[in-house]
Amino acid sequence: MGKWRVMLWAVLVSHTLIEFVGAEDPYRFFDWTITYGDIYPMGVKQRGILINGQFPGPDIECVTNDNLIINVHNNLPEPFLLSWNGLQQRRNSFEDGVYGTTCPIPPGKNFTYIMQAKDQIGSFYYFPSLSFHKAAGGFGGIRILSRPRIPVPFPDPAADFTLLIGDWYKSDHARLRRILDYGRMLPYPDGILINGHGTNGSAASFTVEQGKTYRFRISNVGLRNSLNIRFQGHKMKLVEVEGTHTLQTTYSSLDVHVGQSYSVLVTADQPAQDFYIAVSTLFVASKDLLTTTGILHYSNSQKPVFGLPPPGPTNHIRWSGPRPNPQGSYHYGLINISRTVKLVNRPSQVNGKQRYGVNGVSFTPSDTPLKLADFFKIDGVFRVGSIPDNADGHEPLHLDTSVMGADFRSFLEIVFENQEKTIQSWHLDGYAFFVVGMDGGTWTTSSRTQYNLVDAVSRSTIQVYPRSWTAIYVSLDNVGMWNLRSEYWARQYLGQQFYLRVYSPVESPRDEYSIPKNALLCGRASGRTIPPPA
Ligand SMILES: *[C@@H]1O[C@H](CO)[C@@H](O)[C@H](O)[C@H]1NC(C)=O
Ligand SMILES: *[C@@H]1O[C@H](CO)[C@@H](O)[C@H](O)[C@H]1NC(C)=O
Ligand SMILES: *[C@@H]1O[C@H](CO)[C@@H](O)[C@H](O)[C@H]1NC(C)=O
Repeated sequence: MGKWRVMLWAVLVSHTLIEFVGAEDPYRFFDWTITYGDIYPMGVKQRGILINGQFPGPDIECVTNDNLIINVHNNLPEPFLLSWNGLQQRRNSFEDGVYGTTCPIPPGKNFTYIMQAKDQIGSFYYFPSLSFHKAAGGFGGIRILSRPRIPVPFPDPAADFTLLIGDWYKSDHARLRRILDYGRMLPYPDGILINGHGTNGSAASFTVEQGKTYRFRISNVGLRNSLNIRFQGHKMKLVEVEGTHTLQTTYSSLDVHVGQSYSVLVTADQPAQDFYIAVSTLFVASKDLLTTTGILHYSNSQKPVFGLPPPGPTNHIRWSGPRPNPQGSYHYGLINISRTVKLVNRPSQVNGKQRYGVNGVSFTPSDTPLKLADFFKIDGVFRVGSIPDNADGHEPLHLDTSVMGADFRSFLEIVFENQEKTIQSWHLDGYAFFVVGMDGGTWTTSSRTQYNLVDAVSRSTIQVYPRSWTAIYVSLDNVGMWNLRSEYWARQYLGQQFYLRVYSPVESPRDEYSIPKNALLCGRASGRTIPPPA
């Protein structure tokens, strides 16, 4: 699309579509075309998902409260949706881009997401949410900068880099999807990519000037593996976790579990040469260890990289995470819990096929997005209460479109209990939550005595170590239909997710925007009339 057409389109869109987003805040327009294209990250030709011809997709850069108007043209021969990991979509779950909230964009059609980076800062990413597309690309970084004059607890870096890391398969995503559809497990990944570069001989490279400090926004956009990252000869100063500025602690290596995002500062304080950036798998037998390297290139470099990339940690320390920067801490520890939800899961077979679930229920999508069924009051699509608040892990798994009801403004304690030998990673859309505790073994009410009720970090994706639990507090101040899911993508695909329906009987536009004017309608919502804005 030519520049003028984009501008004209932007003007038209801004007059016709945008009525609910913060009209007084700045707008940023994006026009994205989704296609399949050949990529060679591991040296063999693969079918990748490109955005405007790029793999990974372009970064979204914006400022707190900016309106993001993203027109996505689906040129794949199948339905497609993008979702936004960590973007909270306040009052706006219709735009969340998961199957429970938004109709897939049909092949050859487009859909314009109308979103706002309301009250947020930090590092996040977007990804394709349907059909195991995530294994083919279509992801990219999201960075929300602070507004001018809002203090940031570190000087402006000389440059700000996105570092998307993730495990990767050489197999086509449709083949991986078929393996899962047959009810079998996926093989171990073939490698790790750094910004789309794997082991084909072209490493991701970041040019720095000696003496200057750089921000790296690291997200694990992979499918399953926890990864460890380190910069040869350099320290990383952790400054931000999924929207929270942290107390600045220095690390020589950092764990990034699947779905998580961190910002670190790296100062180019070493002799003028090139250094490795090493990313490798965690918690795997040494025969399965995967490592990929990128390059930290000094602009006045005298020497290419040499030696071996720095090895990962051997004695692994369980890390409950950083403390937030004390500015403006919110006294979540003084609020009374209205309800405790304990989520337990075990892999199991249903009808002879591998499935995963939560509290005895393995999620299956219905024919109609849940949010649309709710809005148009279409019965029989889902049932609130189709997943229990508690389980012990021994419940036989059954299939259902699991939706948990919750009251607007209630204050939830959610305990994730992992009874398995493998690490888990969980994400909640629509919210950031306080990570109040984690420990080995099973959770009991006396585990609460060790909670951090003072300065826990607020984030949206949290790991649960093997045979351990993690507890979070979440203030349900965002009405909508919100996906709570495993970030281990095969598990998410095979049912390890459900929706939290945060409901207010008032049904006021102050609490939730109405359905967007351009919403696509599908399933039993097809042909319904979108009401004019109130
Ligand atoms: C290696 O992969 C990158 C990213 O997909 C690509 O840009 C580059 O052309 C590939 N190089 C080779 C030699 O295949
Ligand atoms: C598709 O794009 C056109 C402009 O190219 C826009 O007017 C229209 O609203 C978009 N469709 C949807 C459903 O957002
Ligand atoms: C929490 O509950 C206690 C006892 O039920 C009560 O005294 C206190 O005021 C409550 N705190 C808040 C913040 O509502």
